[in-house]
Amino acid sequence: MKPFFLGMLIGWIVLPMAGFLYLRFGYVPVAVDGPIIPFEELLAGTAVRARVAREAPAKARLAATEENVTAGARIYREHCVECHGLPGSTATAAAKGMFPPPPQFFEQKVLGNEPVGQNYWIVANGIRLSGMPGYKAALREEQLWQVSQFLATRNELPESAAGILRAK
Ligand code: HEC
Repeated sequence: MKPFFLGMLIGWIVLPMAGFLYLRFGYVPVAVDGPIIPFEELLAGTAVRARVAREAPAKARLAATEENVTAGARIYREHCVECHGLPGSTATAAAKGMFPPPPQFFEQKVLGNEPVGQNYWIVANGIRLSGMPGYKAALREEQLWQVSQFLATRNELPESAAGILRAK
């Protein structure tokens, strides 16, 4: 029986206490350039992907027509460029100083090419503890889909949308 009670003591008291002291006395590396926090990848990576995959609409509720994608480009310029950048530009001061870093959508091909429903979920709801805002209070449902379609099709934009990104 003894090892059992010892196990309970460690599990219920010693470990939670150590965790609390670690947080309370300033050992968590909260600076953006600090090392990875224990469980950070699990929470910020695996948990986010699982939640988004579970809740994102499977089908787009708005088609990627030229009109929608072009409206999406306008929304992107107004709300997203500060963090996610434009074609041919270097990351802004804010983007360089964030952790997790906001993906530079026109530099990195892999990111933001998620199914459009996943883009939509992330733009609508944001991602906690990451600096990615949720826009459902600021943008209408239609606009959320337009900017999501814009992102999903950004490697083959119609001229009308590409022009908006180029405009000074
Ligand atoms: C204040 C900075 C900021 C602004 C403004 C911002 N984002 Fe983000 N965004 C982030 C960060 C940081 C991440 C990375 C989150 C992570 O890795 O967990 C992100 C991630 C994303 C992702 C997920 C990318 C992927 O595939 O992993 C999408 C999609 C996205 N943003 C779209 C947008 C759109 C569209 C807008 C404008 C309506 C926008 N963001 C505005 C900071 C921002």
